[in-house]
This record gives sequence, structure tokens and C-alpha cells, in this order.
Amino acid sequence: MQNILKLKQEALDRLERINTPNDLDAFRVAYLGRKGKITTTLRKLKDLPLETRRTVGSEANQLKKDLEEAIEFKKKELAIEPSAPGIDITRPGKRPAVGHLHPLTKIEQEVRRIFLSMNFSVIEGPEIETEYYNFDALNIPHAHPAREAWDTFWIKSGSKKQRAGSKLLLRTHTSPMQIRYMEAHEPPFQIVVPGRTFRYEATDATHETNFYQLEGLMVGKDVSLANFKFVVEKFFREFFAGKKVNFRFVPSYYPFVEPGLDVVIKLDKGTWLEVMGAGMVHPNVFEAAHYNPREWQGFAFGVGLNRLAMIKYKIPDIRLFMSGDLRFINQF
Ligand code: PHE
Repeated sequence: MQNILKLKQEALDRLERINTPNDLDAFRVAYLGRKGKITTTLRKLKDLPLETRRTVGSEANQLKKDLEEAIEFKKKELAIEPSAPGIDITRPGKRPAVGHLHPLTKIEQEVRRIFLSMNFSVIEGPEIETEYYNFDALNIPHAHPAREAWDTFWIKSGSKKQRAGSKLLLRTHTSPMQIRYMEAHEPPFQIVVPGRTFRYEATDATHETNFYQLEGLMVGKDVSLANFKFVVEKFFREFFAGKKVNFRFVPSYYPFVEPGLDVVIKLDKGTWLEVMGAGMVHPNVFEAAHYNPREWQGFAFGVGLNRLAMIKYKIPDIRLFMSGDLRFINQF
């Protein structure tokens, strides 16, 4: 019994000082190998008298088990990369903070993907526009009261006598790209234009000076509102992941479309929310782009991307998007 206790002490002391896998292996052979100290001790048990054999035997077997376990433990310890002193390598790790996409970027990518799948081309345009593209060419002449609907950030530019229409502003919608695209391309075509837009207005939970829109324009020989209805329906179904969306067309007015309408959708709580403006392209708009309005027709729409994000993610205040508040951003 004495011998076994001594053997145990000696083995544990030696194990403590081992720090390479090779030494550990040698240690295992020296104690637990075929000719190892513990193995031979166990073999000698049969020479003992019956009364002592039982107690000593069970003690020796326990020692064997303990040692096997201690060796396993040590093996794991040695397998871990050595680290700088003072660093506790057994503590749980910290996940490094990596960036992720802004919710609006996610929505924009999703919407682009859906329209690409419907064979629309995605194009982009300038955030600083001229008065001509933002207003005049869209059938909103200088004195037209409809200009009141778009509170505008004007950009101070050089001379006072600047030609009418060439004054600069931050685009109030993505619609100017309707004209720019038609000036440079022949119909038929279908495009969407995602982009940043600006309005000079007091901010509240549903109004921001800076937000995002997606413009759509499809022109052909016999494009109709029925085609538009098909496109929005498919768009909503994709965007809300297969959930059937209840939507309506409500008559509305925009100078660059005739007839004009708003698309409203029914929210879970039962209220109707406007998500886009749309309509058939006004003949004056085709004329501004040198298309023959008797030959071509088409639909146009403008959808607020912030609004789509607010519905999809149940965001209560539009100002959160640009707040830079990490408690908000990190939820996406
Ligand atoms: N440009 C309009 C807006 O920002 C939306 C719109 C686009 C309406 C295209 C009709 C057609 O309010």
C-alpha cells in the first residue's frame, strides 16, 4: 500500500513538469506501458495474501485510471498553441467586430435583384441635378404650383444671369433619370433607378431631408397600367417573401404622368400606407425627350426605399436610418 501511494506521488510530480508531447509519451510508457511501473505492480498483486490483495488491488487500479486521465488532460493542454505569458488561453474568445450592411443598402440590393429578375436594367444618375431635369422636362414649369410639392435644396451657383433651367439643386426625386435615359436610348426598354434624394423640409418620424427612392420606367408600343399592375404585384410578392400583399391604386396627381396614381398597401394593423407614386408617362415628358407620344407609351413609378425598409423591419421612425446610432444599426 505504502509503495502504491509513493508511486502515485512520484508519478504526479513528474507529470506536472512535463511540457512536450514527446516527454509525455515517454512518461506514459514508463508507467502504463507493458513493462511500466504500474503495470508490473498490478502483476505482482497475485503474490499478496488474499486479505490485502483486495484493498491494494483496488487502490492500484484507481491509480492507473487517474493517471490515464491526467495524461489525457495534459495532452490537450500541450496541444494548445503556446501563448504570451500573462494571457489566459483558457478564457472564452471575443468575437472581433466586423462591419455589416446598412438596412437601406440591404433593401436596395434586394429590390435591384427583384427587378433584374423581371428583366429590368438597373441604372444610376447624378445626385446634383439641373432645374431642367428635375422639374421643367418633367412637365413642371417654373411657375407651376406643383413645384411646391418638392421643397428643394438649391445650390448657389456662379452667375445671376444663369440660363433658366441650368440652376443646380439636389434632386428631389429620381424621376429626372427618366428624361436622361430617354434622351440617350431608343425604346422599347424597361429600367429602374435606385438613388439618394433630398428634400428641404422639417423632419419628423416620417419625413427626412435625405432618403432613397427607386424609379421605374417601362416604355413600349402598347405598355399599359395592366402591365404595371402585374409588375407591382410580382414585386410585392417577392419583396415580402411570398406573403400575399393587399394593395390598391388610388387616383393621384403628378405633373409627369396622366393618369397618376398612388399605390397603397394594407398593413397588418389594417391601415393603408402609400408606398409609391405612379402613372402613365405624360405626352409632354415624351416630347421633352424627343419621343413621339403618338407612337410610344409607358408607365413610370417611384417607390420610397426607406418606407419599404420601415414596413419590412417594423422601424417606427425614418430618422433612425441616418442617425448613426449603433444601437439601431447593429440590429440588422
Ligand atoms: N417622383 C415622384 C415623387 O417623388 C414619384 C413618382 C414617380 C410618381 C414616377 C409618378 C411616377 O413623389
